[in-house]
Amino acid sequence: MGSNILTVIYVLASVTFILGLKLLSSPATARRGNLIAASGMILAILGTIFLYEDEGVRLHNHIWIFGGLLIGGVAGAVAARKVKMTAMPEMVSLFNGMGGACAALISIVEFNRLAHDPRGWVSFPPISALGDAASVLSQSAGELVIIFAGLIIGSISFAGSVIAWGKLNGRIKDYAFKGQHWVNLSLFGLILVVAGWVIVSMSAPPSIDPSELKSLVDWNVVLPRLGPDLVQMRILFYLVFAMAVVYGILFVLPIGGADMPVVISLLNSFTGVAAACGGFLYDNKAMLTGGILVGAAGTLLTILMCRAMNRSLKNVLVGSFGGGAVAGQGGQKEQGNYREISVSDAAMLMSYAHKVMIVPGYGLAVAQAQHVCHELEKLLTEKGVEVKYAIHPVAGRMPGHMNVLLAEADVSYDHLLELEQANEEFPTTDVVIVLGANDVVNPAAKNDPSSPIYGMPILDVELAKTCIVNKRSMKPGYAGIENELFFRPKTSMLFGDAKKALQELIAEIKNL
Ligand code: TAP
Repeated sequence: MGSNILTVIYVLASVTFILGLKLLSSPATARRGNLIAASGMILAILGTIFLYEDEGVRLHNHIWIFGGLLIGGVAGAVAARKVKMTAMPEMVSLFNGMGGACAALISIVEFNRLAHDPRGWVSFPPISALGDAASVLSQSAGELVIIFAGLIIGSISFAGSVIAWGKLNGRIKDYAFKGQHWVNLSLFGLILVVAGWVIVSMSAPPSIDPSELKSLVDWNVVLPRLGPDLVQMRILFYLVFAMAVVYGILFVLPIGGADMPVVISLLNSFTGVAAACGGFLYDNKAMLTGGILVGAAGTLLTILMCRAMNRSLKNVLVGSFGGGAVAGQGGQKEQGNYREISVSDAAMLMSYAHKVMIVPGYGLAVAQAQHVCHELEKLLTEKGVEVKYAIHPVAGRMPGHMNVLLAEADVSYDHLLELEQANEEFPTTDVVIVLGANDVVNPAAKNDPSSPIYGMPILDVELAKTCIVNKRSMKPGYAGIENELFFRPKTSMLFGDAKKALQELIAEIKNL
């Protein structure tokens, strides 16, 4: 009865995950989607704790379980509440790493259960016990494959995510050495060979026939024929674990700056697959569906981001972006002079425009200027100006960063244009105001093959009649390269913190 109810709970939970994911695809419904999927997860967790049965035994160590849930829940909630929007990718990375670590731990626990050696308690010569030992020693190859898959993928995801976290918050620097691709590939090959060896050894049928046992009298002759040496198997298992951790580190270490979001998304999909392995092991449908959905969604997001940043997935997989974001590479030509604009001139231009396009970027998030930005939009709209926002898929520091930021300030979703739509509308736009964005409007991505961001689709702000760029200085953005846009004849620079500049602009427009 309990197990039937549990199956229904798992199916329900799986439905909430799918529904949640669907609702997450629009900023208008994302919050609801998140809550629906989270309630499904709570239901699945409580169902497992109170209804799961293994050979008639239910989970009983409730103090440990709820103690762990409480500690993890409080730590997660506090971290999520306190985190600044700009540090969100770091947190996502760290949380993702925890998921990978959990999947790897499941594999460690399950392997140790299988590698329990019955020969320790078999005393020679009871023939029947030896027969039992032989049958216990031969494990299912399928189960071992899943255990190793969870271990390898989970460990890579854990180690890689921790490195990504360190790189995003500046604690860990990019590091690469000559021939690293080959080291990475060889290490990965070695991981597969050792794991394969353990799987084959442990799943091979015992090379002893029970009838033959009767004629054998020497324990030392019988022992190896019952199955592999499990101490050796355990050592090899932990060797695979250690190599996967090292691979995860080497895989992410050389990847530079602007390519980081792709890596985080990829690691996220790894964690999903590793969790799905846990679902297979425990025959837990909710875990399986959840893991598969995370794996699939992460893979799709990786592909979409690769396209948005013009990176090939093949390069991501061998950990070789070639330092896509190193200052001093490409795009460092002599640019000439730039023009400055005063707040009053900028206010005048915008007030008398028919159409204004706002291009938000990372600087807007740093300045926490989203609310003032919305105020400017409302003010201009009241004056009869059509105002829209051009959203680049990788503006900011995480997927959907700008959408989340603007949603926080109640900006209507109808006013947000995606890259292609915005590029179609720039030719009919009078004034573009770039707020703390840089790489996503850098024309070098289109016309300088030596630029590290060459090939990345950008917002063609130059197609508008005038372009005002607000930032604090002439310093480069995330990719560490100069931006030729700032030196183009249609562009004027409005220096200052985005929030302050917007407040001054609003005051000026009100006075006009
Ligand atoms: P960036 O190229 O990073 O440029 C942001 C600009 O904001 C900087 O040049 C900075 O110039 C300015 N700024 C900083 N603080 C400011 C403030 N308080 N007020 C006004 N301006 C301020 O940003 P972007 O154009 O949004 O491009 C995003 C970059 O991040 C891309 O290279 C992308 O690949 C990468 N990235 C994206 C993601 C995702 S998924 N979105 C994740 C990681 C990395 P000053 O210092 O002169 O003010």
